[in-house]
Amino acid sequence: MKDPVRIAITGAAGQISYSLAFRIASGDMLGKDQPVILQLLEIPPAMDALNGVVMELNDCAFPLVQDIVASDDPNVAFKDADFALLVGARPRGPGMERKDLLEANAAIFSVQGKALNDNASRDVRVLVVGNPANTNALIASCNAPDLDPGQFTAMMRLDHNRAKTQLAQKTGKHVTDVESMIVWGNHSATQYPDLAHCKVAGKPALELVERDWYETDFIPTVQQRGAAIIKARGASSAASAASAAIDHMRDWALGSDGIVSMGIPADGSYSVEPGIMYSYPVVCKDGKYEIVQGLEVDDFSRERMNATETELREERAAVEHLLG
Ligand code: NAI
Repeated sequence: MKDPVRIAITGAAGQISYSLAFRIASGDMLGKDQPVILQLLEIPPAMDALNGVVMELNDCAFPLVQDIVASDDPNVAFKDADFALLVGARPRGPGMERKDLLEANAAIFSVQGKALNDNASRDVRVLVVGNPANTNALIASCNAPDLDPGQFTAMMRLDHNRAKTQLAQKTGKHVTDVESMIVWGNHSATQYPDLAHCKVAGKPALELVERDWYETDFIPTVQQRGAAIIKARGASSAASAASAAIDHMRDWALGSDGIVSMGIPADGSYSVEPGIMYSYPVVCKDGKYEIVQGLEVDDFSRERMNATETELREERAAVEHLLG
């Protein structure tokens, strides 16, 4: 039997975690042979609800679960954490401007970044799901000077998975036939789902679909998918977001099958200047991710990659004073 790993989840009484915690506990993230200790963080008003979640987790009698810790103290929840999934965030309230939202979340993610810095395993892998995910990840990382910025990532996998399904359905193929999908930039409506390098059953995607569908249907559909889910369901994506978080962490830890999209610290690759968390095409191997280099970028792509970069720089500017 392997030693258990410690997995911290924040916002653990929320709707994404109601799927996420149970799937992690059943071994979907790290495998059916990897015992886990769940370390669940909530804010004080949600502790009763969190205790209900803990009761249900216990009632599942999951063989892999060695212990469950529930706390409203990030120093407790992140203690020795090997993986941290930062899901909890402040939603936009009535009359709240974008800047207010960025600031409210910056306050949360600076505290959590510091708590990770002070308490987590030195090898902790952090995934930020709570929105605005890329900038929240940047804030957490800037407040964790003893950890490598590369240990902080933002979730783009839901966008990546959505894009794969749209293309598979359009071409009449299965998602497993789609390879080298890339979503660049921010987890927002400026993201750029790029088909230039994508293949379906070995054929270039752009030879299989009309250019017009790509530009006027596919790209906006993927960009606006979150809003479409809210309209249809009356609530934001939850099970699909949890599933994407599991895909992201599993691939990071155990290796990816080809290219996946991850929000990571920009390092100058593809002319995206450092200082923001930008989604790149990466391949994961041996517990690490590496940016796929050398892909050709045409004018159409460059314009969209720049637009989403500009938005991330504006988000950064709004919270500059909290970057530690
Ligand atoms: P939710 O509102 O159901 O749950 C959020 C939970 O976080 C609540 O229980 C709340 O009490 C808790 N929370 C708030 N502040 C906290 C703090 N400082 N520490 C610990 N817990 C805290 O929201 P849901 O649906 O679970 O979504 C969570 C976040 O994920 C939202 O920000 C949402 O926008 C984002 N999201 C991101 C996606 C992505 O692709 N990156 C996709 C879907 C959602």
